Amino acid sequence: MFDTIKIQKDFPILKRKIHGLRLVYLDNAATTQKPKQVIKALVDFYSKHNANIHRGIHTLAEEATKMHEEARGKIAGFIHAATPREIIFVRNCTEAINLVVYSWGRKFLQRHDEVILSESEHHSNLVPWQFLVAELGIKLKFIPVTNEGLLDLKVYGKLLTQRTKMVSVVHISNVLGTVNPVEKIGEMAHKAGALFMIDAAQSLPRMPIDVQKINCDFLAASGHKMLGPTGIGFLYGKEKLLEAMPPFLGGGDMIREVYLDHSLWNGLPYKFEAGTPNIADAVAFGAAIDYLENLGLSNIFLHEKKLTEYALKKLLAMPEVTVYGPKTAEKRTGVISFSIRDIHPHDVAQILDREGIAIRSGFHCAMPLHQKLKLPATCRASFYIYNTEEDVDQLIEGIKKAIKTFKI
Ligand SMILES: Cc1ncc(COP(=O)(O)O)c(C=O)c1O
Repeated sequence: MFDTIKIQKDFPILKRKIHGLRLVYLDNAATTQKPKQVIKALVDFYSKHNANIHRGIHTLAEEATKMHEEARGKIAGFIHAATPREIIFVRNCTEAINLVVYSWGRKFLQRHDEVILSESEHHSNLVPWQFLVAELGIKLKFIPVTNEGLLDLKVYGKLLTQRTKMVSVVHISNVLGTVNPVEKIGEMAHKAGALFMIDAAQSLPRMPIDVQKINCDFLAASGHKMLGPTGIGFLYGKEKLLEAMPPFLGGGDMIREVYLDHSLWNGLPYKFEAGTPNIADAVAFGAAIDYLENLGLSNIFLHEKKLTEYALKKLLAMPEVTVYGPKTAEKRTGVISFSIRDIHPHDVAQILDREGIAIRSGFHCAMPLHQKLKLPATCRASFYIYNTEEDVDQLIEGIKKAIKTFKI
């Protein structure tokens, strides 16, 4: 069984008091806390193995290289990639998407080509594509979000044309919590002759993902949203596609041969990893993957579903509270945005902070979705492996306090 209390003991930060109260951390969609196993992996790397990789032939360099590449192998295994060559280390999900836009987009897109996104994208899967609208004259189209918070697949079917070259959508919305049917979306994209990319920033931490089964062409994710350190993430891409793409950044490590007037690129994945990479954080990301695999992603998904059901029931019973996205846990997971009548979300977040509860307020880097919902901002509570029903109860008590304070 999923032993949340045992899990909590692995997270030193959860022992912290905030304003003298127990920390109730419900901002996991922004970043998760780190278990001692991940912190230890970082300390161990710098204490015992630190060296630059792929260059030296001394013992430390060989150890560091082996650890870095082992981490890549763990990620490949975690998402069922065909080979570790399909895993490119980057700083975060944002950089992974930018890599595809800059490298694949600039080489393979031209004026009037179409890229389909959704209305619920995080800015990281929208703004980079806007660069190509300005630079190349491509056209962006958007799958609408229904009133229920789902992607409208009927309209999506009509948006696909012979000009569609890429469909790139978020797997789990960081605002609505909706789990989008990526297999179906990808199948439709491929039938139209387009490629398919998934923004897995919120899904990879909380559900099993098999890139070969989903049959996505690219997948982007961040380590820090799944127990890993900040500053490390990866892009998965099908080997054939990555082979055909030009490098994103130039410099050391990404080359095979360099002359004064030209260079020859290194093979995958190094072609896309110019300069000294974030070695220690990649190694610690590997430790995070070990931790998650030990728990089992299906168990994590189930745990969050139960918490989501519990929280939705309580939030929906409060007349002052509006919840956005699906109203049952069936099609969503534990990222819940809500508002409390006329109280500004920043005020709610501040009142909750006084109670030791950390939530997010704002538009969560999804401004177009908030514009569509005609909201200036929302509150967002997001759960993870260490959260319990008691945390949800405390959130509800905090919300009651906010309602009382503002007398609405
Ligand atoms: C759905 C989604 N995509 C992309 C990102 C960007 O992640 P990062 O800031 O780690 O690059 C986030 C972060 O909140 C997200 O929630």
